[in-house]
Amino acid sequence: MAESAKINIDGKEIECPVVVSIEGEKAIDISKLRTTTGYITLDPGFGNTGSCKSAITYLDGEKGILRYRGIPIEQLAEYSSFVETSYLLIHGHLPTQSELDKFSLAFNEHSMIHEDMKNFFDAYPSTTHPMAILSAMICALSAYYPGLIKEDPTQEEFDRIAVQLLSKVRTITAFSYKKSIGEPFVYPRYDLRYVPNFLNMMFSSPTHPYKIVDEVAHALRVLLILHADHEQNCSTSSVRLVGSSHANLYASISAGICALWGPLHGGANQAVIEMLEMIHQDGDNVQKYIAKAKDKESSFRLMGFGHRVYRNFDPRAKIIKKCADDLLNKLGIHDPLLDLAKRLEEVALKDDYFVSRKLYPNVDFYSGIIYRAVGIPLNMFPVMFAIGRMPGWIAHWKEMMEDPSTKIGRPFQIYTGEAKHDYVPIEQRSYFHK
Ligand code: CMC
Repeated sequence: MAESAKINIDGKEIECPVVVSIEGEKAIDISKLRTTTGYITLDPGFGNTGSCKSAITYLDGEKGILRYRGIPIEQLAEYSSFVETSYLLIHGHLPTQSELDKFSLAFNEHSMIHEDMKNFFDAYPSTTHPMAILSAMICALSAYYPGLIKEDPTQEEFDRIAVQLLSKVRTITAFSYKKSIGEPFVYPRYDLRYVPNFLNMMFSSPTHPYKIVDEVAHALRVLLILHADHEQNCSTSSVRLVGSSHANLYASISAGICALWGPLHGGANQAVIEMLEMIHQDGDNVQKYIAKAKDKESSFRLMGFGHRVYRNFDPRAKIIKKCADDLLNKLGIHDPLLDLAKRLEEVALKDDYFVSRKLYPNVDFYSGIIYRAVGIPLNMFPVMFAIGRMPGWIAHWKEMMEDPSTKIGRPFQIYTGEAKHDYVPIEQRSYFHK
């Protein structure tokens, strides 16, 4: 295997070291390219660019492999809890029983939000998207817990912020839902585990206490674990980029939530259900919408399909599809959108357009079916993704801050604007309005 790559440019040859990961991925280190040659690389969408070295998550898109700290997600989905998986991602190893007990206890201690923050919910119009509320509230935590936004927190302080975020995000989400339906807030409970506690805050009311259904809690636990990290995706890269300016963890994660909101990223779970509802209302005409998704004149895409990295299948989608089937069977729900999603997948996977471009169902294709069955409203689906992704964002921010080679993120550009020309006084500018 090559140990270096040679670049010949303007009669100069420079040697760039080759970096190989423990799993064998290869990279050409071009960090000296600009200073030695004056050239930069141009890579829109960063399709060929490694932005950092990371020890958190390993992903092989060709083989459909995803591991957190070396452990296959299939095993974590089967055996772990979301709290334990969060510990694994953030601290780099599975916790001992006493470490897990301490970590879980801290979740309980930090599950409330400052009472004054409840006023925030009153100020938003009822039509506000919950991702807007979540992002603002996470950033606002910095005002209520200011002691924790030092540039260089101690390990103990960092652990406290991490747990606060993981625990409070659940409370903020449930409160924003209760506000949107005009019901009183339900406070977190000490005696409930992470997912049942969330479900109770969402769905209990003074007149109707929520009965935790094990299968529902199980399905949500699996979803949260499968969303917990996905290496340098759009929102995690945003968290790292914002954090690279030494912005505090709250601010960095708030930026990550905004990036996740987009329908090409975490907002896709909402977009998938909206698409399925539209196709269903239009008579389940699968062929019509497959044709539309292939039509380059149309902006319609098959939401929940395709991925920058996965080229064969998304291992998360495989687990989620089975989880959706199991949950609906256990709850005795027949959701026509699940049948429709399966038909779309079947037709797409036989179609050369999708096959040749290696477009397969991604994590968002079936997750919405589960959220619907649980009773989570459509516009909160991306929020569920955000709750799940929280440990990954925290782990990446921590890793970046602890890495002495981290620099402020600041890409270059190739300028395509006007060449230099002089300022024109306003009375002579009419020629600009062509
Ligand atoms: N439906 C129809 N055509 C598609 C789709 C789709 N869902 N996705 C990609 N293509 C086509 C695209 O038009 C292009 O065709 P051509 O080569 O003829 O120009 C080709 O496939 C490559 O697509 P791309 O947009 O260059 O690929 P990308 O790696 O930049 O984008 C993606 C990845 C996920 C943004 C894209 O596949 C997409 O828009 N999918 C739908 C939205 C979605 O489900 N997003 C959730 C992603 S998984 C959750 C997460 O982690 O973010």
